[in-house]
Amino acid sequence: MELPDEAIDYHIGGLIAAPATDAFTPLAELQGKNFLTLSRLRGMLPLVNQVRGQIAAEREMSNPPAELRPLDAGFIDMPQKLLDQFRRQKEKSEVGRVIDLAGRLRAQTDRVVVLGIGGSYLGARALFDALCHTYHNELPPAARLGSPRMYFEGNNVDNDAVSHLLELLETSCVDPELPEERWGLIVVSKSGGTIETAVAYRLFRNEMRRLYGPGDRFKQLCIPVTGNPSKLRDLCVAEGIDPNDILPIPDNVGGRYSVFTPVGLLPAAVMGLDVRALLLGAAAMTKRFFEEPFEKNPVLQYAAVNHLLAEEYGKDIRVMAVWSKKLESVGLWYDQLLAESLGKIGRGPTPVTAVMTRDLHSRGQQFQEGQRDKVINNLIVKNVKTAPQQIGMADHNEDDLNQFSRRTMPDLLRAAVQGTNQAYSEAARPTADLVLPQLSEHTLGQLLQMLMLATVVEGRLMGVNPYGQPGVEAYKKNMKKILQSAGNQPA
Ligand code: PA5
Repeated sequence: MELPDEAIDYHIGGLIAAPATDAFTPLAELQGKNFLTLSRLRGMLPLVNQVRGQIAAEREMSNPPAELRPLDAGFIDMPQKLLDQFRRQKEKSEVGRVIDLAGRLRAQTDRVVVLGIGGSYLGARALFDALCHTYHNELPPAARLGSPRMYFEGNNVDNDAVSHLLELLETSCVDPELPEERWGLIVVSKSGGTIETAVAYRLFRNEMRRLYGPGDRFKQLCIPVTGNPSKLRDLCVAEGIDPNDILPIPDNVGGRYSVFTPVGLLPAAVMGLDVRALLLGAAAMTKRFFEEPFEKNPVLQYAAVNHLLAEEYGKDIRVMAVWSKKLESVGLWYDQLLAESLGKIGRGPTPVTAVMTRDLHSRGQQFQEGQRDKVINNLIVKNVKTAPQQIGMADHNEDDLNQFSRRTMPDLLRAAVQGTNQAYSEAARPTADLVLPQLSEHTLGQLLQMLMLATVVEGRLMGVNPYGQPGVEAYKKNMKKILQSAGNQPA
C-alpha cells in the first residue's frame, strides 16, 4: 500500500529490550524487567490479527449478539462513506450540508459558541487548539480569514465561566444589524438530554433571542447537532428551527468516536479547516489498519505494545506526552477516549496527558524516578509551521546563551526529546514515539482515527467492551434525584 507523504509513524525502539547476552549489566537487567522483548511482541501477532478480523466483521453486524452490545462500530468506515457520498452528491451530501451551514455561520457572525460535553466537545476543541492560530480569538477579523472567534461551553456547570461568556456576548454584540456584532450557536448532544449542555442551551438561547428578537435570525444562526430521537431535536423543531438544519449523529457512532461526524466536522468547517482533508486522513488510517502488516501498522503496534505493557508489565498509567502546546487538547480527547472505553469492570489503564517541555518541570521527576507503573507515548510534530525562532547573539551574555546563538527553538525541542528519551532509556522507562510530519488536517485525521481504532483493538484484546459508558450514568441519576428532592430547594 502506498503511504501518503504525510503518513504518521510509531517508533517503539524505546521500549524493546536488547536480546539477552551473557554479559550482565544492571541496566540490561532493569530493561529486561520493564521493556518488552521482540519475541513477546511477535507472539501477539496471531491474536492481534484475529482481533483485526473480528473488528472487520463487526462493521457488518446489524443485529450483534448480546455479548457485543452496545456495538458502535460505525465510526470505522464513516470517513470514507462521507467522502464517497460527497463525491456523488456534492452539496446534497452530509459533508455538503456541513460546509453549507458552516458557511452561513462564517458569513453572518463574528463569534460562535459551541455547546457540548465529553465526546460532543473534546474532538472539536482538539481540532481548534491543534490547527487554528494559537491566539485565534484575539486576531483581527482580516487575519482570521473569515473564521469567527470560537468559544466552548456547556461542558460544565461553572456559574462564573458561563456568566463571563454571556457577559462578553452581551457587551460586545449589541447591534444585530452589524455582522461583527452577531454571534451564532452550535449545540451538540447525541442523546439530547445531557444536563450540562441542556442548561447551557437554555441560557445561551435566551441571550440569543434577546439580541435577535422574534425574527428568523435565531433560527438561522443556531445549529443543532443531535441524534434521533432526542429531546434537543424536539425542542429545536418546536422553536421553529428548520429540521433540515439539524445535523444528525448516526446511531451507530458513540460520542467519543464521533469526531468525524457533524459533531467535529461542523465546528471544524466553521473554523475554516479543510474537513475533506480531515476525512481523507482518517480514511487513510482505516485502510492502513485493515491492509498493512503488523510491522507497518501503527494501530496494531500501538494497541499491542500498550496492551502488553499494561496487562503483563504493570504499566497501568498511560502517559501521552505531547511535545507541542497545541496538542494538549488532543491529549485530553484521548484521556476521555481511553478512560470511557476501557475503564470498566475494575480494569483499564489510567490516561495522563503531559505537555512537554512544560511538564518536565512538574511530572518529569515522577516519570524519571517515580513508580514503575507508566508507559510514555511521546506525540512529536516533526516540522513547525512558522519560521524557526533563532536564539541570536546578545551584547550581554550573562545568560551564557551566545554559545547557542545559531540554534533555533525547533533545535532546542529536538535536543529535549532526544535527551529525555535517552534519560528514560537509561532508567529503563518504556517510551515510544508517535511522529506527525506536521500539524495539518490530514495528519490530525490520521492520528485521531488511529487512536480510536487502537482503543477498540485494545478493548477486544482485554475482553472489555470499548463502546458504551455505563459508569457515567451513576452520577447523573444521583444528581437528578438530589435536584428533585424536596429538601434540596434553591439557596
Ligand atoms: O463518549 C460518550 O458517549 C460520552 O462522553 C458523551 O459524548 C457525553 O456524555 C455527552 O453525551 P451527549 O452527546 O448525549 O450529550
